[in-house]
Amino acid sequence: MKIGIISDLHIDRDTKRSFEVYIDVLSAEVKSQNIDLLLLAGDISNDYKMSYHFIKTLKDKIGIDVLFVPGNHDYWDNDKKTLEIFEYFKKQPECLIERPYIINEDWAVIGHSGWYDYSYAASEFSREKLESGKFKGSTWQDKFYVDWRLNDQRVSKTFAEAVRKDMEQVGDRHIILMTHIVTHKKFTVPMPHRIFDFYNAYIGTSDFDQLYKQYSIKYSIMGHIHFRKMLVEDGITYICACLGYTRQWRSKNLATEIASALHVIEI
Ligand SMILES: [Fe+2]
Repeated sequence: MKIGIISDLHIDRDTKRSFEVYIDVLSAEVKSQNIDLLLLAGDISNDYKMSYHFIKTLKDKIGIDVLFVPGNHDYWDNDKKTLEIFEYFKKQPECLIERPYIINEDWAVIGHSGWYDYSYAASEFSREKLESGKFKGSTWQDKFYVDWRLNDQRVSKTFAEAVRKDMEQVGDRHIILMTHIVTHKKFTVPMPHRIFDFYNAYIGTSDFDQLYKQYSIKYSIMGHIHFRKMLVEDGITYICACLGYTRQWRSKNLATEIASALHVIEI
């Protein structure tokens, strides 16, 4: 079975290409690689209805199962209706949150957005400073568009607990875990760094560390960081398959970038 992985499409940040172009190019790549299951690790757009419409349209077009977790951008909303949007996503059958996907007797996919817990920042910043999101004249943008009605550290713990419950449900199957937020420190921006000593706070969480020790996680898929990287450590393959913003692409060609970002695993 071939599983395709991609994240951080950010289709609404591209001023040159339409929704339909993204559907067509991604569909063509998935079909040409004979993929059986597609996993999207979040950040399709800054508009939850557009993000879900994209997933539904893509699934109808390619005719295979498509599973996703929302990224921080998918929760963005001017009125900060975060909890409402969270419930909206959870209702969708393709959303992995609190709904493990059983592939077969041996494998299951478990997923959650995850949330950051500030533990990846350099140690010199106070919790109050990190909660403000403000550093050197900029503000971490989630602070303007997302409000969980809990502090970020509580949100991270709550989401990790939900994932633990899902892990308990899949028996002794091998697990493909998908989060949007990073769960391994080697996927942060290397420090010391002028601004990411601070902003790494919002990149990842340590609340999943125990889960890797306790459950049979074989693949750990992440998004959020807008680079493409794979790391194998202690029998776990960590994969980040971000398309990222157009200005971050190496080429100017969407098909080339999708082909480069799309990671395929075989189980
Ligand atoms: Fe992103």
